[in-house]
This record gives sequence, C-alpha cells and structure tokens, in this order.
Amino acid sequence: MGQWGLGELGSGALQWPHQRQGQTLPTAPRSPCRSENMLRFLSLKFGRLYRCLKFLLLVGLFVILVMNTHNLFASFQRNELTDRRFINLNKCPACFGTSWCRKFMNGQVSFETWGRLRFLDFFNVKNVHFAQYGEPREGTRRIVLKRLGSNQELGDIDQKICKRATGRPRCDLIQAMYKTEFARLNGDVRLLTPDVVEGWSDLVHCPSQRLLDRVVRRYAETKDSGSFLLKNLKDTERMQLLMTLAFNPEPLVLQSFPSDEGWPFAKYLGACGRMVAVNYVGEELWSFYNAPWEQRVDLARQLMDIAEQLTNNDFDFALYLLDVSFDNFAVGPRDGKVIVVDAENVIVADKRLIRQNKPENYDVWYESRVEDCDKEACLSFSKDILCSRVTVDHNYYAVCQNLLSRYSTWRGTTGGLLHDPPADVAKDGHLEALLDECTKPKKHYGRYQAAKELREYLAQLSNNVR
Ligand SMILES: Nc1ncnc2c1ncn2[C@@H]1O[C@H](COP(=O)(O)OP(=O)(O)O)[C@@H](O)[C@H]1O
Ligand SMILES: [Mg+2]
Repeated sequence: MGQWGLGELGSGALQWPHQRQGQTLPTAPRSPCRSENMLRFLSLKFGRLYRCLKFLLLVGLFVILVMNTHNLFASFQRNELTDRRFINLNKCPACFGTSWCRKFMNGQVSFETWGRLRFLDFFNVKNVHFAQYGEPREGTRRIVLKRLGSNQELGDIDQKICKRATGRPRCDLIQAMYKTEFARLNGDVRLLTPDVVEGWSDLVHCPSQRLLDRVVRRYAETKDSGSFLLKNLKDTERMQLLMTLAFNPEPLVLQSFPSDEGWPFAKYLGACGRMVAVNYVGEELWSFYNAPWEQRVDLARQLMDIAEQLTNNDFDFALYLLDVSFDNFAVGPRDGKVIVVDAENVIVADKRLIRQNKPENYDVWYESRVEDCDKEACLSFSKDILCSRVTVDHNYYAVCQNLLSRYSTWRGTTGGLLHDPPADVAKDGHLEALLDECTKPKKHYGRYQAAKELREYLAQLSNNVR
C-alpha cells in the first residue's frame, strides 16, 4: 500500500461504522500514525462491502424464492410418480417389476404432501416414501413406496451390471442386463435351482429347491403367477426376479410369506420400475416405547409370538430375523397388531432339507451366544449355523435382547419395551428373571425354557387386563 491510500482520507469526512453521527475522523496525521489510519480505512471499506454483500444476498434469496414459487406450487401439483424416469421404469428389466405400472401411470399413486418436495429427498437416505393409493370405488389408503436401497446402492448396482457386461462403469443398462448372470435363466431352464442363486442375499443364503419353487410360484410380478416353472415367466420377468433377489429380496420375502396367510409381514402390493409398493402398517414400535404398561405387555407378547411363529410353523421353514430393532417393526393403528416392516435381512432355513441332509450336529439345539457389541441393536449369529440346525433360539434371543429386556438400547435409551413395570409385577422379580434368562441364559437351554415361560407369562398379564 502506498501513500496515495492515505490521501483519500483527505478531509476526514468518512465515518467508521460504529461512529456516532457528526463525529468525524481526524484529518490524515503524519507519520507514525499513518499505518494505523490505513488499517482503519481498510476496515471501513470492508465493513461497507460486508453490509452491501449481506443486502445483496438477502435480495438474491428473495428473488430466488419469488421465481421458484411456481416451482414450489408445481411440485405440490405435479405427480412425479407418473414419470417413467422418476420411478426408473426406463431401467427395466434392471428393476423390481411392472405389476403396478398402470396404477402409477394413471395417477392413482401420489406422494403425501411433504413427500412431494423433491429437495427433501436429500434427507431421505433410505428412499422410503409415504404415499396414497386411490382405488376408484374404495377411496384412498396409505401405502409405502420403497426404492429398496439408497441412491448410492442403486448407482452401484447399475455400475456392477455395466462392468460385468462391458467392463466399463457406464453403459446402456438394458442391453447390459442381457449379458449378466441375471439373464442366465432362459425358457429352457425348468426350475430356479439353488446353485444359481445361493448366497446372493439373506433369503437365499442356503436355499432349498422347495423354497425357490415357492419364491417363483408366488412371484407376483407376472401376469399369471402360480407356477413354479420358469417357462411361464417372460425373459424380462426372470431377470427382474433375479435382480430383486440379488439387490434386496424384501419384496420376495413378502410375496413368498404373505400377510394374507398370517405371516407377520407388511402386505406386498406391486412394483413399477424401481418403486415397490407395500401397505402402510402404522407407526414404528419406537413410538410405543412409553405407551401405557398394558399396551407394552401386549406388544411384547406379540413380539414373542412372532419369534415363535417364524421359528416353528407348519411349513417347516425357519425365518430368522437378522435386523431386529425398534424401527423395523410397526403397529397397526386400529388392531394394535405388530408387523415386521423391514424384511431385507431374513434368513430362510428349510428344516426339512436340514433333516434330510443331516449336516454335523444338525439335531443339537443351538443356543445363540451373547457377545458384547458397542453398537445399538446388534446381534451375534453365524448364518451357516442358522442354516444347518433344526432347532435354533435366534429369534427369541433377538427379540429379548434388542427389544424387551433391560439390555436393549435404542437411540440412546436403555431399558427395553418392558421398562418400569408396575409394582405388583416388579415385586416378585419373575418377569425380570425371565427376560434376563431369555437374553443371557445361565442354564443349559435356559433361553428355550425362558422364552416359553415368558410367552405364557405375558399372555397371562394381557388376559388379566382384558
Ligand atoms: N410398511 C410400512 N408401514 C409403515 N412404516 C414403514 C413401512 N415400511 C417402512 N416403514 C418405515 O420406514 C422406515 C424405513 O424402512 P425400512 O424398510 O426399514 O428401510 P431400511 O431397510 O433402509 O431400514 C422404517 O423404519 C419404518 O419406520
Ligand atoms: Mg429398517
């Protein structure tokens, strides 16, 4: 900075921002005060500049807001679910199905108010949206739309498909699909066999032919479902089935073990592109953490019943829940029924196959081991053991440890769903002892016995209330 800067101060008519009116700066003094004045001059300039920029920013924001008002209104009015690109219908057969496309395109499916604001998607990492579905004569009902993965995961699978087909991360996805293992099954292949899909996801970690026949027979993303023969599916439908199985098998779990037949899962409705529609169940279990004691007892009883039903049923399939947490269950608002809403991580073991193959120790009852873990809602298990034993206590262990007992922690709260029992329940310590034994058994096969007694005890407590 040279002398000329000081000269500008000249008459001293300029004011510092904090200077009172009428007070003027001293005229430029001679050295040694010159550099001090120069600093003052600079901060004076920056102060003005700062105020000016702030003003411009505010004006800018206002203008952007005004200019975008119509966009804001438009996004409230427009139904993006009729847009093929938005629901990634253009990516089929690298998608989850098309059975609900007519409903989407007809505008029968629409986001709920806030869900229409696309910029909020930034926060919706899970890509789960609440929506309305309207049936001409039935009125509307609430549904849930799932993309089955985050944008990152969906992008990754596209890249994998392209890499597998062309060696490059970007390509024509539809063409590429025909060059991947998703196109491995053609009309000449009779059945979907375990060797093709084993290990692709939890549903098929250890698949039996009986399970895969069931998956194909109940596959709803085809016109005439009901056959376990692959020749009855179109090429694209076979690819979509395999793609779903590999990416996130949840829709196939819901279809193969349907709620209509008493399975404790959300009802599968259909898919279009990469949007899957399921019935809205209700608020998540976490919302009931501080519900009245009687209601919590009823929810706990249902959770233990779910653990039992998924472990022992007439179909000889054991469904082990690997992701048991307060946000993966929801409660129906009218009937108070507990439902599993996240079925991505469910291992299905065919007990008939295990009895037939007789792997080592297959008939020795398996007791899940409790291991310390510093994360919330974690579980210890070996997928291979779940797949090779007939009698496994995993589901009781998971429900007791992560939801019911005093050891369960969720969102920083420890105590479990059955926290703070009333004095008459707490006094003999029976409930706490059962929950402790179910979580960290001290006796041999103690968890099996505790789970049984806990179900009986909770049923008795629920009955006393009724
Ligand atoms: N069918 C449903 N009914 C009600 N709420 C649901 C349903 N499906 C999902 N949700 C809500 O959306 C959340 C995320 O869905 P989820 O399938 O668990 O995604 P993620 O696999 O990413 O955990 C759930 O924790 C639950 O609160
Ligand atoms: Mg979840």
